[in-house]
Amino acid sequence: MSQNNYKSALDHPVFNILSQAAKTLDVECYVIGGFVRDHLLNRGEAKDIDVVAIGSGIDLARKTAQLLHEKPKVSVFKTYGTAMLRTQGLEIEFVGARKESYNRDSRNPVVEDGTLEDDQNRRDFTINALAISLNEGSYGELLDPFHGIEDLENKIIRTPLDPDITYSDDPLRMLRAIRFATQLNFTIEKESLDAIARNKDRIEIISKERIVDEINKILMADVPSKGFALLHKTGLLPYIFPELVALQGIEEIEGQLHKDNFWHTLEVVDNIAQTTNDLWLRWAALLHDIGKAPTKKFDKKIGWTFHAHEFVGSKMVYKLFKRLKMPLNDKMKFVQKMVLMSSRPIVLAGEVTDSAVRRLIFDAGDYVEDLMTLCEADITTKNPKKFKKYRNNFQKVREKIVEVEERDHVRNFQPPVSGEEIMETFGLKPSREIGVIKDAIKEAILDGDIPNEYEAARELMLKKGKELGLTVV
Ligand code: CTP
Repeated sequence: MSQNNYKSALDHPVFNILSQAAKTLDVECYVIGGFVRDHLLNRGEAKDIDVVAIGSGIDLARKTAQLLHEKPKVSVFKTYGTAMLRTQGLEIEFVGARKESYNRDSRNPVVEDGTLEDDQNRRDFTINALAISLNEGSYGELLDPFHGIEDLENKIIRTPLDPDITYSDDPLRMLRAIRFATQLNFTIEKESLDAIARNKDRIEIISKERIVDEINKILMADVPSKGFALLHKTGLLPYIFPELVALQGIEEIEGQLHKDNFWHTLEVVDNIAQTTNDLWLRWAALLHDIGKAPTKKFDKKIGWTFHAHEFVGSKMVYKLFKRLKMPLNDKMKFVQKMVLMSSRPIVLAGEVTDSAVRRLIFDAGDYVEDLMTLCEADITTKNPKKFKKYRNNFQKVREKIVEVEERDHVRNFQPPVSGEEIMETFGLKPSREIGVIKDAIKEAILDGDIPNEYEAARELMLKKGKELGLTVV
């Protein structure tokens, strides 16, 4: 096999069909972009395939569909001159090669026919502009006019054109550059990095949904801090997360310093990335301290305080999700809950009493383990002795959670005596007293005054009823 033959990338039988379709229509076609990049990086089997035709991408899609056994439906996007079909678990996107210029105020491209090289030129990065021929005679040959292979080897993110043009054509690419650098552990070449800093305000024309897609990918990387540090360095961070920018910096009053909560947060995110692949728990790590900026105060006696920052932070989560047009659903509520409870196990760690653990399980419910994972990730002390001490304390809390839950079952707490039973017993209509009795039972169970059992709860109900002047009917 010649050095630039990449037939091995074209193992899948669909590539032969694509080749036949192109031959029938007498157009050239190439597989390009992420599929080629990920194959060369051994990033596993890609499910998305981008195909560029030197001619009509839509016609090529239709012809390919005809030749495929199952005759898949072709979705056509006329304005963009693109088409898409799904076959055998793959999603194939077709585009006609373009010499493209963008309208500065929107992402809608003005499309003109172009050559393969024109098309490669207008792509975001050299590593995404690699194309493999599907044409008879050159099948499997790699076309790499911008030295994408070299950049892959040297782990460099570089734009094929002058970066100012590439980024201002489509400002989302600034985030894509940072996302790829983070996912692949590549370096953004200096000129490109400078261009991002120069064009940062253009991010404002990009939809929040697309921005969040990239942030999610950064968060799911092995070392997400790399991406956030780049967002910070290029000046993009204030456009996306002003709340995180506000955490940056160390203040000193009367010789007392507080830690830099921005860099601390990034450490926490990296820590949690090692222990969970849950995107929302990673979001919780990113946002767990955002309430610290607005609550920061200096007190002459106790030094720096961040009173109620967890509560304030959890309210900020809602505003942040809303601003970024993220779903305001149970995922958002989960992040809020994690932020709200983020200090609870820390308070516990000194002395782990059963009742405190019962309350923790009661309040955190099914998320108590996630909360522990967040708190463990929050240990960023560089003092090995302290680190070990905190870790051991949390380990004790975890053990106690298992022990207490096995005995008391408060995780999804159901009151052992129902409201109906209270009403029937005392002949009550819905009223305040029922709440008072139910609450007394719950509190007694959480405090460990009575076991979480029917008999004990009923006994307490009768006692409380008497105190309230009620009579059994
Ligand atoms: N592309 C581009 N500019 C963009 C988005 C995409 O030039 N803003 C080009 C790149 O050549 C890219 C290809 O379109 O490789 C496909 O884009 P997409 O599917 O979004 O990304 P992938 O590179 O496939 O990577 P991933 O799947 O990780 O997003």
